[in-house]
Amino acid sequence: AQQHFVDSLLNEMTLEEKIGQMNQYTGFWDATGPAPTDGYGKNKYEHVKQGLVGSMLNVVGAERVRKMQELAVNESRLGIPMIFANDVIHGHKTITPIPLAETASWDLEAIKQSARVAAIEASAMGLNWTFAPMVDISRDARWGRVMEGAGEDTYLGSLVGKARIEGFQGDDLSANNTIAACAKHFAGYGFAESGKDYNTVDVGTSTLYNIILPPFKAAIESDVKTFMNSFNTLNGIPATGNKFLQRDILKGEWAYEGFVVSDWGSASEMVNHGYAKDLKHAAELAAVAGSDMDMESYAYVNHLKELVEEGKVDVKLIDEAARRILLVKYELGLFEDPYKYCDIEREKELLYHADHKAAALDMAKKSIVLLKNENNVLPLDKKQKKIAVIGALADDKQSPLGNWIMGADPNTAVSVLEGLKNYSKHISYAKGAEVLADKNIGFANELVINETDKSGFQEAIDLAKESEVVIMVLGEHANHSGEARSRSKLDLPGVQQELLEEVYKINKNIVLVLTNGRPLAITWADEHIPTIVEAWQLGSQAGNAIADVLFGGYNPSGKLPMTFPRSVGQVPIYYNYYNTGRPTSDAIFWGHYMDESVAPLYPFGYGLSYTSFEYANLKVDASDAAKVKVTASVKNTGEYEGEEVVQLYIRDKVASVVRPVKELKGFEKITLKSGESKVVEFVLTAKELGFYNNQGEFVVEAGEFDVMVGTSSAEGLKTTFELSEVTQ
Ligand code: IFM
Repeated sequence: AQQHFVDSLLNEMTLEEKIGQMNQYTGFWDATGPAPTDGYGKNKYEHVKQGLVGSMLNVVGAERVRKMQELAVNESRLGIPMIFANDVIHGHKTITPIPLAETASWDLEAIKQSARVAAIEASAMGLNWTFAPMVDISRDARWGRVMEGAGEDTYLGSLVGKARIEGFQGDDLSANNTIAACAKHFAGYGFAESGKDYNTVDVGTSTLYNIILPPFKAAIESDVKTFMNSFNTLNGIPATGNKFLQRDILKGEWAYEGFVVSDWGSASEMVNHGYAKDLKHAAELAAVAGSDMDMESYAYVNHLKELVEEGKVDVKLIDEAARRILLVKYELGLFEDPYKYCDIEREKELLYHADHKAAALDMAKKSIVLLKNENNVLPLDKKQKKIAVIGALADDKQSPLGNWIMGADPNTAVSVLEGLKNYSKHISYAKGAEVLADKNIGFANELVINETDKSGFQEAIDLAKESEVVIMVLGEHANHSGEARSRSKLDLPGVQQELLEEVYKINKNIVLVLTNGRPLAITWADEHIPTIVEAWQLGSQAGNAIADVLFGGYNPSGKLPMTFPRSVGQVPIYYNYYNTGRPTSDAIFWGHYMDESVAPLYPFGYGLSYTSFEYANLKVDASDAAKVKVTASVKNTGEYEGEEVVQLYIRDKVASVVRPVKELKGFEKITLKSGESKVVEFVLTAKELGFYNNQGEFVVEAGEFDVMVGTSSAEGLKTTFELSEVTQ
């Protein structure tokens, strides 16, 4: 029925109207006030009325969206509804942890639930399309957008991406509380050279096929309705004008049926890349390459018609793109009711709903990673009489929300200080040092980083002197990560490191709570501070979640989704590297750094618990090559009940294209009572055992494999098995 509906609609549409579907504008007018009269706004306004706009982004709110939609539905010739998009990245009003933090939970059900919450609130505000999940794998902590992704690993990243898509899109896309998802950025954005945003991406076939592309392919398995291409070039060709990516792989080999939106202005930016000579040429290149919708480049709306008339763009490509877009609109149910997301009563009822708060709290607790707990300082004793809390980030209700929070109301997070005070009456606070002088969420050039002000040090030192334990909340402000927020240093910004060292001189009983949007090189802290908790930016419920973990209400269970380097010079650093001919080791001259260890500070998959786990009995049954069974038993040997992420890694020891020293191929999060043990079973099939060769073909090769099962990428039991035959 949907094909038939869309085909007959296409039959009625003029070429201009079809191109209109391929045009997306950002909000230009608040839609509840008088119509715009100036050139820019007026132009867009007229275009909506003429049916020349298929989608809007950044128009948010049930009433605003309704007004804007009315313009398209009531005034344009065919009344085709627009699709309304926004970056709903980690919650909308109720903010959940940044995606990197959520990934640290390794809890796919909770992640899916978190995306559901975001979809419910966003759809209540008129939205029906989110530009998420970002499934770019990245190994470079300098890149500001690592906060928005699932870290460095393709296997984990693919599953997290799928969970998020399933959460956003739900079981029924036509329901009024589900929204279309978008797998972005296709492709390679996370491999920007030197971690600088938008930078050149030049990667070999092995990395492209085995690391970068699989999460996108996985997104299609979860029926993701849209893709976004990318700002970067990939091996010399801008992603937006990249036919190989969009036509050959995505729409060809993967037979993808949804549509591709460009990134903001990325079609026009092909001129700067030196790929298109002008905007018209950019329109031609993007359309031919398979970029279906143009976000804010004005390339299609101004030039596509002429390009078709000149024979430079085949009209069939326009039909195809418009068709893809109209099909998604149909699936959303927009033709049946263009205002289905525009109910003001529903909006009031659902925003900040108590269930959402509960989901945000649950997700936040699960995202926390315990990095160090010498002498079991944690969990804190509630009877402790003098607890000092130090650090500007402790008393901050904005920063825990993290970056990419388009819908959030300012200062709506529970701060760490508030959370702790909810738990204990014995908290005293000193700021110590500012992290940022200007806390406005804006663009990078609005940041004013206060590097030098130490005027609060003495108060903090005095407080530390008279306290039994000192909780120092240090890290990055939300404005330190996100788009165009790359860093060349991975330390604690400003004077925070100095503050930490000064307080340490006075009181060594420190619990360092890190709140940050990327891995940090906190090597000094690891050497000196007894207790370190990675608390990221955890959203609306951050303070409550952190307090619950520090006081033992929740036993931490998170595991790092990205390697933490010892120093920025080690970056990119990741667990699934290849051996060289002179394998890397601190002990071997040929494989070492002269001035730094080659080991990470904390490896991928690492994270402690208040209890301890013992692994035993690793066994492999490879008698059926199509289903290799791996089992191991895990016992809780500590005092507390706890959750453990049991991780399985393999190594294909000899292959026609060299394979990494280890690769994650399975994990299970289990709960064990004190003294309890469980046998965990994994099944390895061709999907886990194979890889992409340099021709982009998926192959499984017989031979010896190592298999490791353990608590992180660096620690576990290991055995070997022989894969006797090749199965596909
Ligand atoms: O969705 C984003 C994208 O990830 C980066 N550029 C802007 C887009 C729309 O806001």
